[in-house]
Amino acid sequence: MAYTLPAASKMLKKDFIYGVATASFQIEGDSASRLPCIWDTFCATPGKVRDGSNGDVACNHINLWQQDVELISSLGVDAYRLSISWPRVMHQDGSLNQHGVNFYIGLLDALKANNIKAFVTLYHWDLPQYIEDNGGWLNRETAYLFRDYADKITRALGDRVYAYATFNEPFCSSYLGYETGVHAPGLAKKAYGRQAAHHILLAHGLAMPVLQKNSPHSLNGIVLNFTPAYAHSNSAADITAARLADEYFNQWYIKPLFDGAYPDSFALLSDEDKPVIQDGDFAIMQAPLDFLGINFYTRTVYKAAPDKAFTEVDMVNAAKTDIGWEIYPQAFTDLLVSLHTKYPLPPVYITENGAAMADTLSNGVVDDQDRIDYYQQHLMAVHHAIEQGVNIAGYFAWSLMDNFEWAEGYLKRFGIVYVDYATQERTIKNSGIAYKNLITSR
Ligand code: NOJ
Repeated sequence: MAYTLPAASKMLKKDFIYGVATASFQIEGDSASRLPCIWDTFCATPGKVRDGSNGDVACNHINLWQQDVELISSLGVDAYRLSISWPRVMHQDGSLNQHGVNFYIGLLDALKANNIKAFVTLYHWDLPQYIEDNGGWLNRETAYLFRDYADKITRALGDRVYAYATFNEPFCSSYLGYETGVHAPGLAKKAYGRQAAHHILLAHGLAMPVLQKNSPHSLNGIVLNFTPAYAHSNSAADITAARLADEYFNQWYIKPLFDGAYPDSFALLSDEDKPVIQDGDFAIMQAPLDFLGINFYTRTVYKAAPDKAFTEVDMVNAAKTDIGWEIYPQAFTDLLVSLHTKYPLPPVYITENGAAMADTLSNGVVDDQDRIDYYQQHLMAVHHAIEQGVNIAGYFAWSLMDNFEWAEGYLKRFGIVYVDYATQERTIKNSGIAYKNLITSR
C-alpha cells in the first residue's frame, strides 16, 4: 500500500519535503520538570477536557525520545516538526533553563544524525502560567517576553534547526483560548479574542528580526490554520455571510502579515471589541517571511442569520472524521489557490494535515483505511494546487503519533502511529506504512 500521485507530480521529486509533526504539550509528559503552563491549569479545571486527562505523561516522549527518533527515521521522512515548550526552557526570572534546553539539543542532534530536518515551532500553545497570571496574551508585555524567549532559545540551539515558526495557529490561541474559552486559558469575551490575536501577531513580528539575526540560515516564518468558509446557497445574503466568516476566522490572521491591516469587517466590531493598536504595530507584523506554514483539516459552510453576521450550517449528510470534521478535500486546493491569488506568498509548507479516526489495534495491525483515503485525497488536493501555480515545498502529516488532543483529551487519535497509552507501545498504522512507501518510492 502506498499513496499515489501522478508520475510527473512535483511531489514525487526528491526535494519535496515530507515530514511528520507533533507539539510539546501533546507528547512530552514529565510536567514536573518544567514550569506549569496554561494547559496544566486548564486540564485541572473540571469539565474543560472531555476525558478529564492532562499532559503529565502524554506519550512520555521526554523519556522515549531516542526510540521516537528511530521511529521517525523508520518512516523515511525528510523532516520532523516539533515544538519547544517555553515553560521547559525558561525560568520565571527570564533566564534559560539549561536542563530543558539540553533535552532539545539532544533531540535535534539525534535528528541531524539521522539526516532529518528539524522544523521547530516556538509557540504551540503552552504559555507559562505565571505569564497568564499577569494577563497572558491580553497583556502587550507578553509579546516582548516572547521576543526575549525567542532570542535566548535560538541562540542556545545554534545551527541545529532547518526552519523556525514563531507561532502555531494564532487563531486557536486567541479565538479558542480567549474568545470562546474552549481552549486554555478558557476566557470567553470577544474583546479578549481580538486583543489576544493582536498581541500574538505583534509578538510574531517582534520575533522575526531576532530569528533572522540569530538564525540567518534557517527558514523563518509562521504557521497559520485555515478553515475555508463556503456559502450554503448562491443567495447574496449567504455569500456575504461566508465572506464575513472567512474574514473573521481566516483572513484576520494573515492579512496583517502581508497587507498591514485587518480585513474590512474590522469596522463592524463595536468600539469595545476593537483591540488596542499602537502606531507602528502593522509595520512590525509585516516582517518578511521565508516560508508560510499552512494547516488544513476541513471547511465550514455558512448561511445568513437574522440576528448576526453568519451562522454555521451542520452538513448532516457529509462524510466526517471521528472528531466530526467534514471531509472535503476540494477546499484544500481552493484555499491554497486563493491564498496564492490574494497574497505574495513565500514558499508554502503544509505544516499539518490529517484525520482523527476511530482506530483499533488488533494483532499488531491498525487497518485505518478511512485515514488512508483521507491522506490520498488530500495529497492529491495539494498536487492540484501546485499544478495551478502555488509554490508548495513540503507536506507534514499530523500527527507522527496519537497524542493529547487538547479539549478532547486522549479520545481522538490523529497519529499515523498508534499509541497504547497503558504500555506506551507504538505501532505504525497502515496509513503510516502507506506514507513511508510513498516517500521511499521517490
Ligand atoms: C491543530 C494543532 O496545531 C494541533 O495541535 C492539533 O492536534 C491538530 N490541529 C488537530 O486538531
